[in-house]
Amino acid sequence: MPLLKIVNCMDPVLRKKCLKVKNIDETLINLTDNMIETMYNASGLGLAANQVGVSSDFFVIDVGIEKEKRDPVIIINPVISASEEKVIAEEGCLSIPELFANVKRSQRVEVKGYDLKGNELRYEAEGFLARAFQHEMDHLNGVLFWDNISKVKRDMLQRKFKKKLKELEV
Ligand code: NI
Repeated sequence: MPLLKIVNCMDPVLRKKCLKVKNIDETLINLTDNMIETMYNASGLGLAANQVGVSSDFFVIDVGIEKEKRDPVIIINPVISASEEKVIAEEGCLSIPELFANVKRSQRVEVKGYDLKGNELRYEAEGFLARAFQHEMDHLNGVLFWDNISKVKRDMLQRKFKKKLKELEV
């Protein structure tokens, strides 16, 4: 399966709200296969469709129910149906490589959506997994993790990111 190119935070596709999925077809199924491979290859635990340039409302995530084993799940047209208790923890993003920040998120969330067969899905998640769900949901709404931190810290991270890009272009 081919690996996909993960776009970085400068790409406008990451700033657009993704369109709801209306049809689950072969193209979508193949894309999710490739996204899962791409996610693991990049050592990520979640990947939203717009991170591979597709403005479509789904993400793949490793829910880690089976420890020590890959446990990928595809969630189509997801919504966070409940959330509680805010906590601050460090997070990063495959589209903002090697930069991290402390972000306030809900400690527990309930996520609903659909699987590739069109069946309803519901997950209750806590801690790290709850954070990952919120991070991927943000992507689908055109939001990056640094939108959730102070302007001072965001400016600092953005400067670091641009410096990194320049180094790569040299
Ligand atoms: Ni991300």
